[in-house]
Amino acid sequence: MTQLSFDVEKIRKDFPVFSRELPDGRPLVYLDSGNSSQKPTQVIETMRDHFALHYSNVGRAMHVLGAESTDAYESARDKVAAFVGAPSRDEVIFTKNASEALNLVAYAFGNPINTDPRFTLGAGDEIVISEMEHHSNIVPWQLLAQRTGATLKWFGVTDDGRLDYDPSVITERTKIVSIAHQSNVLGTVNPVAEVARRAHEVGALIMLDASQSVPHHPVNVTELGADFVAFTGHKMVGPSGIGVLWGKAELLDAMPPFLGGGEMIEAVWMDHSTYAPVPHKFEAGTPPIVEAIGLGAAVDYLTEVGMEAIEAHERTLTAYALDALREVPTLRFIGPDSLEQRGGTVSFTLEGVHPHDVGQILDDQFGVAVRVGHHCARPLHLRFGIPATTRASFYLYNTTGEIDALVRGLHHVQKVFA
Ligand code: ALA
Repeated sequence: MTQLSFDVEKIRKDFPVFSRELPDGRPLVYLDSGNSSQKPTQVIETMRDHFALHYSNVGRAMHVLGAESTDAYESARDKVAAFVGAPSRDEVIFTKNASEALNLVAYAFGNPINTDPRFTLGAGDEIVISEMEHHSNIVPWQLLAQRTGATLKWFGVTDDGRLDYDPSVITERTKIVSIAHQSNVLGTVNPVAEVARRAHEVGALIMLDASQSVPHHPVNVTELGADFVAFTGHKMVGPSGIGVLWGKAELLDAMPPFLGGGEMIEAVWMDHSTYAPVPHKFEAGTPPIVEAIGLGAAVDYLTEVGMEAIEAHERTLTAYALDALREVPTLRFIGPDSLEQRGGTVSFTLEGVHPHDVGQILDDQFGVAVRVGHHCARPLHLRFGIPATTRASFYLYNTTGEIDALVRGLHHVQKVFA
């Protein structure tokens, strides 16, 4: 029996969902945290308590509840900043998800009201992404290329699911590079510091989609070498409806606003406005108040468990899963089949069986929740010549016993379709 590096049974008690059964008494085996994670009591109770006793709008209500709500919201910003090693709390912008964070930065480029040459973009300029990106790190850049006439380029992916990193894809014409820190399908962790060095060498900026890394590894935005980092609350035991853009203060200051509205202004006249300093310049309208506070509680929870311990636990699970899945006949990994530079997301195909059938049998007969489809990364699946994969993704509350259940289910699927 593989020894787990921390007390997973104790962790599971923090997550009420694991005390329930599925409709016909099957235990729940939740292997879909890459999609969205489960929530601990600490997050649920913090949000409930805020709604029940402290709720008010933030930044604009001159009364006790307004002050309590504002303090809690701004203290969540402090927690998130510390969690990712942001040099300043003002570099943390609350958005509604990672997609909004990516769009926010994309809309700064080639924006007619922009005055900073680093964000000017037009025909002849280049945007660089990769073939393994989630749609949220592809479509905003496609739209930007369409708006401005800039050229969209990308790094390929190797047969074993690694970034096919060719530094010459980044040229003197490149203005922005945006890639995933960890792939949501392959589990691959990309050499982002190396790519960042190359981007900076030619004067380009670099953004990272860290939605799949921040929940699972200790991440320090300064060490990543990036200019902008996006991630989301719901994959890191926090609520949905809250995401984060971290950016270097000096760049955020230089960027034009994204959405206009209340609280992002300094002063407004009928024909023009001046803007609030960051972070508020990018937080127009009533923000996701309780969601941000919930994310603060999620960060407290993950910090208390320890990100190194979570990473080590997931590594143990991933090693166990790779070994066990290798024994399933006709299973083909889509992504690295070794532990090197990868996280706890394992995608695969079974010969002759559509992933939708795999997912349905696993769910119906084994209570195993996985994600099937293209996982919002269709170009990556086209690269491998397949329409879809089955994906198991692990988190701090998963056990080797749950991986055994997945493997039993897959053996059964194989027999059904033999
Ligand atoms: N990006 C999420 C996933 O990979 C939704 O499942």
